[in-house]
Amino acid sequence: MPHDTLFSPVTIGKLELPNRIVMAPLARHRASQPGDVPSEMNAHYYAQRASAGLIVTEPTQISRQGQGGWATPGIYTAAQEAGWKGIVGAVHARHGRIAALLSHAGRVSHRRLQEAGAPPVAPSAIRARGATVLIQHDDGTTGFIDAEDPRPLDTDEIAGVVLQYVDAAHRADRAGFDLIEIDAANGCLLHQFIATGTNRRTDDYGGSVENRVRIVVDVLDVVAGVVGAHRVGIRLSPGFTGADIEDAEALASLSHLAGKLKRIGIAYVQLADADDALRNAYDGAIIATADCGPEEAHALIERGTADAVAFGLPFVANPDLVERMQANRALADADPSTLHGGGEAGYTDYPAFDDTQRR
Ligand SMILES: Cc1cc2nc3c(=O)[nH]c(=O)nc-3n(C[C@H](O)[C@H](O)[C@H](O)COP(=O)(O)O)c2cc1C
Repeated sequence: MPHDTLFSPVTIGKLELPNRIVMAPLARHRASQPGDVPSEMNAHYYAQRASAGLIVTEPTQISRQGQGGWATPGIYTAAQEAGWKGIVGAVHARHGRIAALLSHAGRVSHRRLQEAGAPPVAPSAIRARGATVLIQHDDGTTGFIDAEDPRPLDTDEIAGVVLQYVDAAHRADRAGFDLIEIDAANGCLLHQFIATGTNRRTDDYGGSVENRVRIVVDVLDVVAGVVGAHRVGIRLSPGFTGADIEDAEALASLSHLAGKLKRIGIAYVQLADADDALRNAYDGAIIATADCGPEEAHALIERGTADAVAFGLPFVANPDLVERMQANRALADADPSTLHGGGEAGYTDYPAFDDTQRR
């Protein structure tokens, strides 16, 4: 069998994954409206992909303030919680495992997505130049527009933001999620706090490395208190330069954070860039999102750089990605025109391999 290690079990926290192929977070902008509620169609989509060792949900906003795109699902209302319960149930019925990715978009947003047209919030009043967000226009069509100038959070608002994560963690726990992953990657609010280019604060949440990672540590501490550290992970992307992120001290922040993660005892780090720097500083499980094929994924695990590997785009058109990789079958290509927004087309209608053969 090719690349056996990818198909061997691994334990993350106390959760056993039957294989090491993880579905990476993919924003698909298909929550039902109004209310950004996860739907039966979304449950069908995730259940189709249940043979993944672990599914990580699309970034799920912990509050209306944390929304960074049209029709992204939330986890801050009773209806959203019930929707997620349906998704978790559908994945578990197919013997899968699923982590909720709790996210706050921060400045990568627009007043059209916010309550009462408020400006988005951020560590500092610095716009994400070149970053775009998906919105719905007045005529009902959707399209990407530039992110807007954010309002800096007051110091006394930060405890409230941390509480948004606590409330979302309670809801995710009640919805039955196996794991809770905190999004601090790819330019979201927590990443904006970590990175030197986006955080010019002069209070306890800006300046030194310790101050810039403080909110991340606060969030992990309280979420671990809610669901148990063994059920908590974090997504980081120290090498990410999209969404106008600049971090002159990315590696220093990573190694400082690694020490804190050890202390809290969280289950895993999902790294959006595979990096040996973390492996040397952190002894928990590492899921690398390595932008690679099965050979390289296998090599990352064999080298000990990662314990599991996350795939993004390949899961869009290959619901049975694990079986296809295991059988060395060709992978289908996703239609780029249906990635963001829409209905079943380009979402739940990609067939598993056997079905393709029968056509
Ligand atoms: C359609 C699509 C949507 C994505 N949405 C997000 C997102 O909202 N947040 C994020 O951090 N990464 C997002 N990603 C990145 C993936 O999680 C993953 O890191 C990336 O696709 C690299 O893996 P791959 O080469 O296997 O696709 C997205 C990727 C795709 C293809």
